[in-house]
Amino acid sequence: MSTQQIPPRAYADSVQHENELNGLFRQSWLFAGLKLELQGNSHQGVRLGNTEIVLQCDEAGKPRAFLNVCSHRHARLCEPGKHRGFVRCPYHSWVYDKCGVPLSVPQKQAFPQVVAQPENFRLQEFACEAAGEFIFVRLAQDGPSLRDYLGSQYDFLEHASVGLDAVQDEFREEVGANWKVVIENALEGYHVPSVHSGTFMEVDGMSREKEAPRFFFDDARHSHLEHDANADWVARFKRMESKIGSWPWRFEHYTHHHIFPNLTVTSFMGYSFHVQRFDPTSAESTTVHSRTVGVKFEGATEAGKKMMEHIYADGHAFTKKVFAEDGAICAKVQAGVRQATKLAVLGEGIEDRVRHFQQAYVAAQPIEGQE
Ligand code: FES
Ligand SMILES: [Fe+2]
Repeated sequence: MSTQQIPPRAYADSVQHENELNGLFRQSWLFAGLKLELQGNSHQGVRLGNTEIVLQCDEAGKPRAFLNVCSHRHARLCEPGKHRGFVRCPYHSWVYDKCGVPLSVPQKQAFPQVVAQPENFRLQEFACEAAGEFIFVRLAQDGPSLRDYLGSQYDFLEHASVGLDAVQDEFREEVGANWKVVIENALEGYHVPSVHSGTFMEVDGMSREKEAPRFFFDDARHSHLEHDANADWVARFKRMESKIGSWPWRFEHYTHHHIFPNLTVTSFMGYSFHVQRFDPTSAESTTVHSRTVGVKFEGATEAGKKMMEHIYADGHAFTKKVFAEDGAICAKVQAGVRQATKLAVLGEGIEDRVRHFQQAYVAAQPIEGQE
């Protein structure tokens, strides 16, 4: 009988990991980066699943994704991270334009076929679409459109993108656990009193009266929650409003979205958005790329700007601390899951988002040795 839960071996097995990279990480739309990071003449090296890509915007501003391999003799074009200017191969300096077509070739008389029809030598390209600022890539040739894939999350990402300004804080860190362990940890608040007793529990802002956040399962793959902000905190922002100004999308709760498989977007009241990308680096390790993105404030005074800087700075320190606590507990889960033989026990209500994720995973990826 098949189960809707992920068996423990699927979190530690290298064959399962390979199958995922060639399976769900090819079929799904993967979050790759933000349009606002690709402004001007620039490009970015990103690894998605087992594929290295180069991300850039074409002249019309549309994001495009290319295999990070030179058409000439297959050198890797760029290292992971951001780069200025056109894509230029480090080996013989072929330069590619924004559509991945060779733009200049040293000693071009030796390559008459490239000079005659450069578009025949364009870089291999992948499906690439954006929802607002959020760029997604699908490695498989065929599949649903991004809009169909994202379902109700498409509107959320578009709405969140209005007024997104600049990346204020960014880090990449390795967690010693399978990516599914890391995602599942992000999908439940049950561990918070135990793991984050010294951090989260002391933070202002979350309503204590309404213990239960609201869960939303509109889409088969994705989920989100909303947790009301407490009344004092909302009132505090109201009092500061004349100084800090207004921001484009204001809500009075904390929101946490998981977009299957590799993206979470969270925000408290909409004055900044925390964007995390989860990259499975091996069966038992995950690289997390975390960004805090600020929004545009209208009509802020100098004093108001200072206040927001403090709020942001506190937020950064808090994020790092929480991240370290989560990373440490995920490594312990990994140590256990390696030896576990029975299915996990999932709580009703509090762990519904974990269950939803496991069902989405089981639907997307066959499990080794299971019917
Ligand atoms: S391999 Fe890229 S220019 Fe030669
Ligand atoms: Fe946590």
